[in-house]
Amino acid sequence: MAGSPRGGGVMAGLDLRHGDCLDLLRDIPDASVDCILTDPPYASGGISLRERQQRTQTKYKLGNVKKVYPEFFGDAKDQRGWMAWAQLWLAQCWRVARDGAPLLIFSDWRQLPTMTDAIQAAGWSWLGIMAWDKRSSRPQKGRFRQQCEFVIFASKGPLSLVHDRCLPGCFAHCVDRDKLHLTAKPVPLLKELLEVAAPGCTVLDPFMGAGSTGQACLETGRSFIGMELSRPYYEISRRRLEPLAQHYIMEADHA
Ligand SMILES: C[S@@+](CC[C@H](N)C(=O)[O-])C[C@H]1O[C@@H](n2cnc3c(N)ncnc32)[C@H](O)[C@@H]1O
Repeated sequence: MAGSPRGGGVMAGLDLRHGDCLDLLRDIPDASVDCILTDPPYASGGISLRERQQRTQTKYKLGNVKKVYPEFFGDAKDQRGWMAWAQLWLAQCWRVARDGAPLLIFSDWRQLPTMTDAIQAAGWSWLGIMAWDKRSSRPQKGRFRQQCEFVIFASKGPLSLVHDRCLPGCFAHCVDRDKLHLTAKPVPLLKELLEVAAPGCTVLDPFMGAGSTGQACLETGRSFIGMELSRPYYEISRRRLEPLAQHYIMEADHA
C-alpha cells in the first residue's frame, strides 16, 4: 500500500484519506471523479443551537441500542455556518467532478431546503429528490413519524446517461442492526443509488464515516475515494475496506 501525501493510503480501486475534506479535496485533480455519493454531518437533531450542540451519541442513539459509538465531527454548526461550509466543500466537489457527473447527498427533512440551496449555489444542477423509507423511526404521540430521509440528486451540467433503464424514486431499507457508525447508511441502499454511475467508474465520498459507500462501490466494481476527519472512523473504514479491495483484486487476477 502506497502512502498518499496527507495521511491515508491507496490500493487499486481504493484510496482512503484521513483529514478535513476541505484540505484533502485540494489534492484531487480537476474533473477526475465520475460520481459523488455522500452523507455529510446534518448538524440537525433539533431546532435550537443548544440541541444541535449535544454529543452525537445523545442526538442519534436510539434508546434500545447498547453499542457505544465514537463521536463524529461537524454536527454542531448553526444554520448559517452549516450552509456556508456546505457551499465550500460542494464547490470543491464540483471542481473535481467530470462534466455530467451525478451528485447524491443524504439529508434529513430539516436540512433539505438548505442543502438544495447550497448545492445550487456551488454550481450543481438540481435534478430531484429520492425518499429513503427507513421502515422505523421514533414514535411521536399525536404526530407523524419522521420515517424518511432523503437523497438529493444533482449533476455537473447535463447528466451523463450511463444506461437507458428507469431508476426508482423511493427506496425502503432498514438500518443495519450491526452498523459501524452512529448514522450509517445501509449498503444495499447505497448500491441501488450507484446504479446512476457506470460500473468501473470512480466514486468520491468526502464524509465516508465507517465506509459504507466504499463497501457498496467495491462490491459493485467501482473505485472509491473516501475521506474522513475522525481518526477512529477512518481506522474503522480501513479495517473494513482494505480486505474487500484485496479480495476484488485477487478475483480480477483469477478471472
Ligand atoms: C453522517 S457521517 C457518514 C456516515 C457514513 N455514511 C457511514 O455509513 O458510515 C459523516 C461523517 O463525516 C465526518 N466529517 C465531518 N466533518 C468532516 C470534514 N470536514 N472532513 C471529513 N470528514 C468529516 C464525520 O466525522 C462523520 O463520520
